Amino acid sequence: MTAYICGVGLYTPEHIVTNHDLEERVETSDEWIVTRTGIRQRHIAQGEVTSDLGAQAARAALADAGLTAADVTHVICATCTPDSYCPNTATQIAHKLGLTGPMAMDLNAACSGYIYSLQTARALTALDPEAVVLVVAAEVLSSRVNWTDRATCVLFGDGAGAAVVRAQASGRAIGIVDAMLESDGRYGELLTILGGGSARPYAPGEPVGDDFFIQMNGREVFKVAVRSMTDVCRRMLERHGLGVDDLGMFVAHQANLRIIEAVGKKLDLPAEKVFANVQRYGNTSAASVGIALAEGCADGTFAPGRRVLLTTFGAGFTWGAVLLQF
Ligand code: COA
Repeated sequence: MTAYICGVGLYTPEHIVTNHDLEERVETSDEWIVTRTGIRQRHIAQGEVTSDLGAQAARAALADAGLTAADVTHVICATCTPDSYCPNTATQIAHKLGLTGPMAMDLNAACSGYIYSLQTARALTALDPEAVVLVVAAEVLSSRVNWTDRATCVLFGDGAGAAVVRAQASGRAIGIVDAMLESDGRYGELLTILGGGSARPYAPGEPVGDDFFIQMNGREVFKVAVRSMTDVCRRMLERHGLGVDDLGMFVAHQANLRIIEAVGKKLDLPAEKVFANVQRYGNTSAASVGIALAEGCADGTFAPGRRVLLTTFGAGFTWGAVLLQF
């Protein structure tokens, strides 16, 4: 059953940290970061928390949809860097929007959180055709980045992307045609934020260790990311009898330009159909494709009538693809 994205929005903190700024903090260089990842800068929150970023993106998405917060019946916050363990971040976003009453839950599928949430929203609108589901993917990854670890601190950024999903076509009326969402927990150890979870509790007064921050085996993640996103996109295209010529644009998780280009190449996509903004935002995890979608809608990259394929990959591992009809 098709559901529709009626409006999209994004928000990124004002403060920008360039690769040159990072040269001052760790032993790295702009040249190394750009060559290995494509990233040139990232936005970093200063005093703002995940729900602040999420609420800003949500306001933009509601305005884009021509709706108000009072219309919202459900809030889903996709995040792996919530404001707190409890309460969840979705309730705090709802509160900041002046809302009481909506179902409000967090969804953690790491960098696949936005598309997992779109599919959840689609299911909710199938159950209740009157539902107005606010999907907010928001991350303050800088709070869980080890700023002394050059292998990871150069990769991530903060930001939020939001979408309003309804059963009926209104506003932008972007059809969510299909979603394929997958995971494989055998790879769990390759990309983690362990500290503070029940498997790695902290005692009162105990200083946090390296495991409190993002830890990653970059090379292995790279390989499985390319393989998984390529494979799920091929199956999605096959399922709908589509070739790459039928796609207007391809949007992969914005983690690393080399990963994005490798997947594009394996799918035989011409470079001009492969979306990239990772250069300016870094990897914003769940927010990444949400930001991409909002940015591309605002600047006309995703023109009406075009089919757009989204694909993501993240810790877990989780991955998937969503086919959109603009
Ligand atoms: N600056 C300079 N040197 C760095 C560095 C940095 N920021 N980070 C790592 N290095 C060094 C390493 O220490 C290593 O040095 P050594 O050979 O002396 O040990 C060398 O650079 C090469 O490291 P390697 O890990 O082989 O580099 P790479 O080409 O695999 O690139 C990543 C590293 C992290 C950019 C890459 O593996 C990657 O992008 N992986 C996927 C990460 C990702 O997207 N994760 C999120 C998915 S949701």
